[in-house]
Amino acid sequence: LGVPLLTGLAGSSSTGTLLRSRRPLPRPFSRRLTIPAELAPVRREGEADVYEIEQRVGRADILDGVGTPIWGYNGTFPGPTIRSRSGRPVVVYHRNALPVPTVVHLHGGHTPAEHDGYPTDLLLPEGSAGQHPAGHGGAVTVGRRGYAYPMNQPAATLWYHDHRMDFTGPAVWRGLAGFHLVGDAEEEALPLPRGQRDLPLMIADRAFDQDGTLRYPSRSDDLLGSPGVHPPYQAGVLGDVILVNGQPWPTAEVAGTHYRLRLLNASNARRYRLRLDPAPPGALVQIGSDGGLLPGPVRHDSIDLAPAERVDVVVDFARWRPGQHVTLVNDFGEDAGTGRVMRFEVGDAVADPARVPARLSADHRTLRRADATRTRSLVFQSRDTGGAHHWLINGRPFHPERVDVAPRLGSVEIWRLVGDLHHPIHLHLSHFQVLSRGTGGPRGTDAGWKDTLDLLPGEPAEIIVPFADYPGRYVFHCHNLEHEDMMMMGNLTVG
Ligand code: C2O
Ligand code: CU
Repeated sequence: LGVPLLTGLAGSSSTGTLLRSRRPLPRPFSRRLTIPAELAPVRREGEADVYEIEQRVGRADILDGVGTPIWGYNGTFPGPTIRSRSGRPVVVYHRNALPVPTVVHLHGGHTPAEHDGYPTDLLLPEGSAGQHPAGHGGAVTVGRRGYAYPMNQPAATLWYHDHRMDFTGPAVWRGLAGFHLVGDAEEEALPLPRGQRDLPLMIADRAFDQDGTLRYPSRSDDLLGSPGVHPPYQAGVLGDVILVNGQPWPTAEVAGTHYRLRLLNASNARRYRLRLDPAPPGALVQIGSDGGLLPGPVRHDSIDLAPAERVDVVVDFARWRPGQHVTLVNDFGEDAGTGRVMRFEVGDAVADPARVPARLSADHRTLRRADATRTRSLVFQSRDTGGAHHWLINGRPFHPERVDVAPRLGSVEIWRLVGDLHHPIHLHLSHFQVLSRGTGGPRGTDAGWKDTLDLLPGEPAEIIVPFADYPGRYVFHCHNLEHEDMMMMGNLTVG
């Protein structure tokens, strides 16, 4: 299959198997950065803005001389960006014109359970007949359904992606992922870069076959979803091409002024250590994380980004000379290809009122240990049973019918997380704050409200999480998508 990198070894960064592309790749930085199209609402329904998306097979222009078949929201990868506003509800109707069942999850959304995209709440392809063997009692719909989001949450960089039980990895790899950006009045009042200078950047690695198709180690007959049949991928799938918004190692022309870069790691299993090169110290000024704006900016030389994490940074390109090339590099890459992400070509300095104020979100409550009424311990560990790897939480594989964690509605809990390898741990429904890592405090990029924690091998971490309002059945899981598909997921039932 490729080179196994099943490690948590010092200096190593990703758990998985590296797939090599089997055709010549575009020259790095030869392609322009593209920004995913924004979706306009088609109508209002009561208070809600209504959007329509068709999930279908599409053809992406990624490689030179050949198209790449993908599965895309509206046939594109990334899917269209939805921009919504805090407090103003959104309904997204999805039509499934793909050959497989799907599930849509708004990652980072504070969403009632029926609309959260529980892994067995399947949307079957249009025209298919009723029941599905992998339904497991989930709410199964045929053809088209609406997902209703109250958007009862502050400005933040969210994303939506497929979430079908056992098949999230291959579906996202084929292209089912897009941005959902939430804005609010507080953010609007800040002098942050906006418009053409607010760039959502979806970073994802992939590998390609001779004919330009995406390589993924699954058997084609698994794609219709026989329960209990797992393709022979185990530790995570890594590609040798780094895409940003679907383009390999693109270049963006920027003026000599402030830009907001909304970095999203949409890779299945790859972790990045991102850094600008060359760069003055503290060039990456973090203003937001998974759950929204920070109380104040945090400066970084480099940023570690695990799958599903988002970091919002502002970069002032006036700190470089006009004409200079600034590369976004990945210090965790295995080689020259995966060690680079994209390039910025700095233009002339321009006058622009944008800046990073010393105070960002005033609406930020720091949770204390004393707020919690319960502490839980969760161990994320693989088990090797003679050739096959099983990815388990507290020794158990995911089962839709079992309650694993049942917080009381209105309570606050501390979760102590321990992992054997790199496991990006994601909770649905609630954002959390990081209390500790190992024997120390949180690291710089742990600031603010998070929904995904970059759990390191052998380093326990504590998070504190409120279960304030919506009751119901949700999940928490490892966001290495192959670990997730191989059952590293649990039910989070709030009642
Ligand atoms: Cu980004 Cu449970 O997912
Ligand atoms: Cu994992």
